[in-house]
Amino acid sequence: MSILLNRDFHKDIAKIVFRDKSEFSIKIGPFEGDEQGRGEQSSSVIGLLVNGHVKITNDVLSLYPNLRVVSNHGVGIEHIDVQSATDRGILVFNTPDVLTGATADIALALLLSSARRVVDGDRISKSPSTSFFDSYYFGSEVHETTVGVCGFGRIGQAIGRRCALGFDMRLLYHNRRRVSEEIEKETGNAIYFPQLEDMLKECDFVVVAAPATPETRNMFSLPQFKAMKPTAHFINISRGSLVNQEDLAEALENHLIAGAGLDVTEPEPLPRDHRLLKCPNLTITPHVGSATFSTRLKMAKLAMANLNRGLSGESMGDGSIEAVNKEAVVATLIKMKQ
Ligand code: DGY
Repeated sequence: MSILLNRDFHKDIAKIVFRDKSEFSIKIGPFEGDEQGRGEQSSSVIGLLVNGHVKITNDVLSLYPNLRVVSNHGVGIEHIDVQSATDRGILVFNTPDVLTGATADIALALLLSSARRVVDGDRISKSPSTSFFDSYYFGSEVHETTVGVCGFGRIGQAIGRRCALGFDMRLLYHNRRRVSEEIEKETGNAIYFPQLEDMLKECDFVVVAAPATPETRNMFSLPQFKAMKPTAHFINISRGSLVNQEDLAEALENHLIAGAGLDVTEPEPLPRDHRLLKCPNLTITPHVGSATFSTRLKMAKLAMANLNRGLSGESMGDGSIEAVNKEAVVATLIKMKQ
């Protein structure tokens, strides 16, 4: 019986995570078959450990008839066909919580960089042709301004908390549902906007932290950028699919907004000649929201723990480790037995 990990963890993380002897053998290498499901069937595989955004389609799942657990190293699971996994009685896990802080930090890094022109300032400061510093090299004020967070789950709330409590910003949020008054108060008196455009009009900064779903695809397109203030900055740490990138390029080129900071794009990386990359008012990082050693270690440990508990059946009765489709899988398994 074996577990497949498609891409090894960082070597120092792998050393720690694979130190304890597991009762299952762990094979490292690409999953059998590609997105089209071409490949050999492998009946010995009972668990997939997914590192990166490789697509786990129904065809890929079908190559492993004895598969019981798919454990994703990361919180976003839009690349996994959870419905097909559920129909096959396969538990799907992700790694929430452990990466919330690091991902919220990168949102603030991009917000500050975009507002205060940190990256361009670094280039100017190091350039051999720089002979004097322009004392009117203005950026945008951050403290005591207004931020709107789109997607107010764990990461969105952590971003809001940093902005409201650390930078005295007025905190607005848009979410499918209003969160409890307690959370609103604790994050820094967050104010709920059921309509996205109503919130956008008021923001100096807009930060996207909503999950990638069919409903959120292109949620930020030209009308949304037009609704924003020309002095506003747009930050996305979620997924590239939430943003119409041509429209964002247009907004940046025509100064419909002041700047943007992106940790995510679609695809990643963008084609080298993409017009977004030519925008001087764009700051971009290579999808590093969770990329610190300690966060990635916690993610790898949790992904392994999820896998082991899922395989040992403990996840079914243990509230501390939750499969994203636990209830549905239990129902499927009962049906299968009948
Ligand atoms: C996540 O956890 O979803 C991060 O984006 C890393 O993939």
